[in-house]
Amino acid sequence: MSIIIKGGTVVTAEGERRADVLVVGEQVAAVGTGLDAPAGSRTIDAGGAYVIPGGIDPHTHMELPFMGTVASEDFFSGTSAAAAGGTTMIIDFVIPAPKESLVEAYKKWRGWATKAAADYSFHVAVTWWDESVRADMETLTREHGVNSFKHFMAYKNAIMVDDGVLISSFMRAKELGALCTVHAENGELVFRLQQEVFDKGITGPEGHPLSRPPEVEAEAANRAIRIAEVLGVPLYVVHTSCSNAMDAIARAKSEGQRVFGEVLAQHLVIDDSVYQNTDWDKAAAHVMSPPFRSREHQAALWRGLQGGILQTTATDHCCFCTPQKRGGAGNAAVSDFRKIPNGTGGIEDRMSVLWHHGVRTGRLTPSEFVAVTSTNTARIFNVHPRKGTIAPGSDADIVVWDPAKTRTISAKTHHQKVDTNIYEGMTVTGNAAVTLSRGRVLWENGKLTTEPGWGKYIDRPCHADFAYAQDLRNKAAEPRGVQRKLPSST
Ligand code: URP
Ligand code: ZN
Ligand code: ZN
Repeated sequence: MSIIIKGGTVVTAEGERRADVLVVGEQVAAVGTGLDAPAGSRTIDAGGAYVIPGGIDPHTHMELPFMGTVASEDFFSGTSAAAAGGTTMIIDFVIPAPKESLVEAYKKWRGWATKAAADYSFHVAVTWWDESVRADMETLTREHGVNSFKHFMAYKNAIMVDDGVLISSFMRAKELGALCTVHAENGELVFRLQQEVFDKGITGPEGHPLSRPPEVEAEAANRAIRIAEVLGVPLYVVHTSCSNAMDAIARAKSEGQRVFGEVLAQHLVIDDSVYQNTDWDKAAAHVMSPPFRSREHQAALWRGLQGGILQTTATDHCCFCTPQKRGGAGNAAVSDFRKIPNGTGGIEDRMSVLWHHGVRTGRLTPSEFVAVTSTNTARIFNVHPRKGTIAPGSDADIVVWDPAKTRTISAKTHHQKVDTNIYEGMTVTGNAAVTLSRGRVLWENGKLTTEPGWGKYIDRPCHADFAYAQDLRNKAAEPRGVQRKLPSST
């Protein structure tokens, strides 16, 4: 089956031009004007619209077992909702329990994901350390296409790692050419502050941000960055939520270090007043880590995204319905903000929220929008040019983006499997009109046509040029420079 997308403006990270796109089978066959489509091709009219690469969300948690419950969105419902919003690939997280084999956990997550409606890949979290973890990291990179490992510096007594584990894992990742990522919050400080806030009698959701101030995030971001600097490994900081942490990234970048920053769409447009809502459920629906911040931080994050300090946008899509958020704490007598499952949704809304608040306000050009919603992620995590662009040979993950289509976001109408929406009532202009995943229509005329199992697992090889450019620099410098040899990771 061939498809020709006619009359649109094709936007890539490099620029935009009026062109048609010919899709044959699962791939883009040609981009240009006056293309001949094979007989029997379907024509999609993109007149007045942009034609953009499908969004890639590098940070999701479908059906994650977390804080005593399981995230409500599964791989089918989540990738379907993603498609409705113009996202065609996710990178989710395998999070082994401490002492659980990384490879076994990976296989478990792969099993859950077989129902995905769009393509997916996995980061794997290192939540503990011994020789078997070291060996599993190699198995995952060599045999299972994993090229990124996640480290939680928070969630004490659960999945948090100390500096010893962080260092062992960073060193191992370097040997393998994999990318280290961190959830940067000082978990020890969070633990103490939670106790202090709770003991003062602040037990509701408003206690959550008080226990996780920006300094707690900045300390961890800076520590991870400096550890990465000493070890000479590239680093990716997930969900950067405040100027303090962003400053640490900016400083490292200005010193020539390979550090990438991710920002969540919700941190750009929602502020911390949500925790003052007198409706416990509404405030609890916003409990996520790092928490929502003040407007000054939002403004700084936008500038960071515009200026390239932050290169990717994600959702950290991790949904919990109201009964889950209550978790026995929904009435004042037993309220304990420490027990509210952390997480919010938004996979369906990321692209339109960023278009509306980013492109329509003039903060981002359409090309910059494409860069921060797909291309940069594809490059950093090494799936470019298969994903994150529209070019001959790339997967036909394509969105016909209608810049004039308006919708008001609501849990009543969204496709996400969660009973609240953090953007409830926000009207956004700029939405996906048609979404294609490897040439198959997943969303059209306001209707989903997704099918469980259409999504494919995407291998991501190590030694990504984008992340490991320093390898190239080191090689170039070899005849002149002194090469510092690090001890092995054992
Ligand atoms: O609150 C959040 N972000 N929940 C999901 C787990 C994580 O920290 O990424
Ligand atoms: Zn996190
Ligand atoms: Zn997360």
